Amino acid sequence: MSDTPRLIDRYTASQRSNHWAVAILFILLALSGLALFHPALFWLTNLFGGGTWTRILHPFVGVLMFLLFLILALRMIRHNGIGKSDRQWLCHVNDVINKHEERVPEVGRYNAGQKLVYWVSVICMIGLILTGLVMWREYFSLYFSMGVVQLASALHAIFAFVMICTIIIHIYAGIWVKGSMRAMTRGSVTAGWAWKHHHAWFRQTQKAARK
Ligand code: HEM
Repeated sequence: MSDTPRLIDRYTASQRSNHWAVAILFILLALSGLALFHPALFWLTNLFGGGTWTRILHPFVGVLMFLLFLILALRMIRHNGIGKSDRQWLCHVNDVINKHEERVPEVGRYNAGQKLVYWVSVICMIGLILTGLVMWREYFSLYFSMGVVQLASALHAIFAFVMICTIIIHIYAGIWVKGSMRAMTRGSVTAGWAWKHHHAWFRQTQKAARK
């Protein structure tokens, strides 16, 4: 028998390109947004060609990221419905952290933690685009009162903060669960990884392969 682990397809090349384009744009947005958020971080504008360029580029990059995120989110939505077993998984989150996954209900393509990251990202992205458009002085903010623009700025900062924290958790989880990163880099996972972390999905893939 071969020592090479059996591989299962998880993402197509197009899904991976979509994901990494969103990830790169997210990093650019977070850095340019932080540069504009507080004078102590203004030095970050050097990465974008100075203060004026940072201010011009940030909203355009934001719109682009929103559109690419929308495509990614629509592609993944059917795998992210939250059900009874997800609520049970959340009650057992300590077992997951302590690597006792055998005590946790069987997981499908995504676990409840991944699904929460998905939905928090969707909510934050909608919040960020709406508040961002209201704040966009060049084109839209003249249609709103000063109070509305100020409220939008405060909400924009809150959505951005939640989004950054959520993506930090997302990246940490991707690194912490050994074997996950290759799903998004090479498009496949080992059968052992799928069996251990996403048992119900593993069984589905085996059933489909037998047909
Ligand atoms: C910046 C570094 C990032 C890294 C290292 C990373 C890593 C990963 C990895 C390893 C997976 C595969 C997980 C699996 O199949 O079990 C994944 C999935 C995913 N990532 Fe990322 N990611 C990053 C940024 C982002 C950003 C910025 C977003 C969106 C705002 C995002 C949205 C998603 C979505 C929607 C999935 C599919 C999971 C689902 O639908 O629940 N990622 N990511």
